[in-house]
Amino acid sequence: MLNIAVRAARAAGNVISLNFEDHQNVSAEEKAKNDLVTNVDRECEKVIKDILLKSYPKHCVKGEEFGVAGDPESDHVWIIDPIDGTTNFVKGIPHVAVSIGLRVKDVTTVAVVFDPIRNELFTASKGDGAQLNGRRIRASQAKTLDGTIIATSFPHRNREFLVSYKQMLSNVFGKCADIRRAGTASLDLAYVAAGRLDGYFELCLKPWDFCAGELICREAGAIVTDFSGGENIYNSGNIICGNPRIVQSLLREIKPVAEKQNIK
Ligand code: IPD
Ligand code: CA
Ligand code: CA
Repeated sequence: MLNIAVRAARAAGNVISLNFEDHQNVSAEEKAKNDLVTNVDRECEKVIKDILLKSYPKHCVKGEEFGVAGDPESDHVWIIDPIDGTTNFVKGIPHVAVSIGLRVKDVTTVAVVFDPIRNELFTASKGDGAQLNGRRIRASQAKTLDGTIIATSFPHRNREFLVSYKQMLSNVFGKCADIRRAGTASLDLAYVAAGRLDGYFELCLKPWDFCAGELICREAGAIVTDFSGGENIYNSGNIICGNPRIVQSLLREIKPVAEKQNIK
């Protein structure tokens, strides 16, 4: 199933690359405030969905743009983000990805995050480790936040969390070396898995943003929790990621602020 997922991700990646070089045929619209979608997002989702359902007609596919296809009762559910980083794509910033994860009875078993601009393919199958272009990757070994680079994102669509978020950011920034905000959640996770980033936290994500990246992180030795240190990321959409010590360190900065506002 990983092979089929890679085929689908590469096919969508080709569509992204072609349109990235030649933006003439790209049209963007705001589906909600600060939430863009383009005709290329929709085309990519269709390409992915067709490839997955051709091989697995009895599976379910849940995409960001078109919702559910295939058998909604299936215990095999593909969760896809056809373009993660649509705002980057629209602005011509070369930092986007295709994200495809397969959950079997609510356990993620296959994951692909593909950056078509750099031709970087991050993959994982449960129990088999995580790879970048076929080579094993591992999360950073940092023991404390001292000297670390932590990725994050502003709650740009959920500004009611801005005050709390600013406090969390300020706490984390006070302890780490520096912060990155690159605009593509699946790549933030993949970069933690590859040890390029030491940790990452973000509020209000959707399953398609993190489904694949979460497994890639876990298979690389990182863990992913919600803001209370629990496992309910599919309920809250709030995630903290890094090796276990870094997650503990991030929780020390984030959890007390989250608790005050009842943010899980
Ligand atoms: C977004 C990106 C971004 C994150 C947002 C996501 P989209 O996904 O992953 O990094 O900060 O929360 O929604 O809309 O480009 O698919
Ligand atoms: Ca996304
Ligand atoms: Ca998207």
